[in-house]
Amino acid sequence: MTVTPRRYHITTFGCQMNKADSERMAGILENMGFQWSEDPNEANLILYNTCSIRDSAEHKVYSYLGRQAGRKRLEPELTLIVAGCVAQQEGEALLRRVPELDLVMGPQHANRLQDLLEQVFDGNQVVATDAIHIMEDITKPRRDSKVTAWVNVIYGCNERCTYCVVPNVRGVEQSRTPEAIRAEMEELGRQGYKEVTLLGQNIDAYGRDLPGTKADGSHQYTLTDLLYYVSDVPGIERIRFATSHPRYFTERLIKACAELPRVCEHFHIPFQSGDNDILKAMARGYTQEKYRRIIDTIREYMPDASISADAIVGFPGETEVQFEKTLQLVAEMGFDLVNTAAYSPRPATPAALWDNQLSEEVKADRLQRLNYVVTQTAIARSQRYLGRIEEVLVEEQNQKDASQVMGRGRGNRLTFLPGDITELRGKLVQVKITDVRAFSLTGDLV
Ligand code: SAH
Ligand code: SF4
Ligand code: F3S
Repeated sequence: MTVTPRRYHITTFGCQMNKADSERMAGILENMGFQWSEDPNEANLILYNTCSIRDSAEHKVYSYLGRQAGRKRLEPELTLIVAGCVAQQEGEALLRRVPELDLVMGPQHANRLQDLLEQVFDGNQVVATDAIHIMEDITKPRRDSKVTAWVNVIYGCNERCTYCVVPNVRGVEQSRTPEAIRAEMEELGRQGYKEVTLLGQNIDAYGRDLPGTKADGSHQYTLTDLLYYVSDVPGIERIRFATSHPRYFTERLIKACAELPRVCEHFHIPFQSGDNDILKAMARGYTQEKYRRIIDTIREYMPDASISADAIVGFPGETEVQFEKTLQLVAEMGFDLVNTAAYSPRPATPAALWDNQLSEEVKADRLQRLNYVVTQTAIARSQRYLGRIEEVLVEEQNQKDASQVMGRGRGNRLTFLPGDITELRGKLVQVKITDVRAFSLTGDLV
């Protein structure tokens, strides 16, 4: 007797944390005998791993879901799952909105997917959104790349930025042990992975919740200690980490990055606003002067470091003058990349209730003006690569030009070069940069 394989599809919204969770959930499903289906309409299990950081992200999910809920009315054996941050935020309410759902599961439950699905296959409609201790995952993730991998380091967030849903949906900080992180990296090294990005919402807060102090009693284990501990994992040639919070970014950490050859000179440190009163209203816990000092210190140790950030425009009460301070900060700091967003009021966050909200027109106008400065700054930053020889880790074929491959330099700029992917995938190569654009480079193998 032949058994037709059960097929699954996952659509992922949101940040790297969600992408990493999706890879782990895919690993669990494959372990259960499911096979990947690129086309959701041919899958009999569909999982939406959702994001609620902004209203637009949340709404996308509902339109996707509506379509599959319609299909489920005709094919009752279809299994429909909503995971991730919208699932956590809405919980039971999602079932009322979409009664066809079989499973609603928050991000802390990603590693429990098999257990939850068994309850579903027993005929239950399941909601798993209670706060739990995140279990170490024993299943191998199904990773999208064969070259670069994400490794979770700290889950959750203990901050309370007044605009942000993350603490509500991801729970309190939970650091994995250094041993578990290193073991995962060693396994990746054995499998031929070359680059690891250590992940956390505030990765530089790593270790604060780990029990005890170090053997000499001196201080709590930190991200800096972790970098030293994992910096010699065989095969892992490059290490990155994201996202850093300015509050926890220390000179000791900067020194470690400068000292450790495998840690890339690339930092993602959101500033959100260039104005101190807005930063205070956001409850960010630093001033723009402190932020500038961090960047200056990074550049003292690593003059060529790449620095990227996130910024929000149109926060409640933001004046034109305050907004211009954000423009000024971007122009002066010379960012390689800034992810920008118009403020979006979110459920159960303090700032959403304030009565000094700005109009959509003002927000859209500021976003456009900020994006212009971001692009101009990025173009200026790209110039430094022209004519230089960069070390590039080749990841994939260029989707738009099969005669080229694409990879990244240590500074994380996307780089294209002529070459054959079967020969070059996973190789560190020297590339002479011949052409630069705002956010990408082109060059030739040397
Ligand atoms: N933990 C990181 C950021 C995580 S959320 C930090 O604190 O820096 C990713 C980005 O989404 C944030 O940096 C912020 O720029 C943006 N963001 C978060 N909430 C938002 C909201 N309500 N409206 C618009 N952008 C938001
Ligand atoms: Fe959100 Fe602030 Fe936590 Fe970042 S630090 S995830 S912006 S609450
Ligand atoms: Fe979105 Fe959740 Fe990440 S809200 S940005 S997927 S932590």
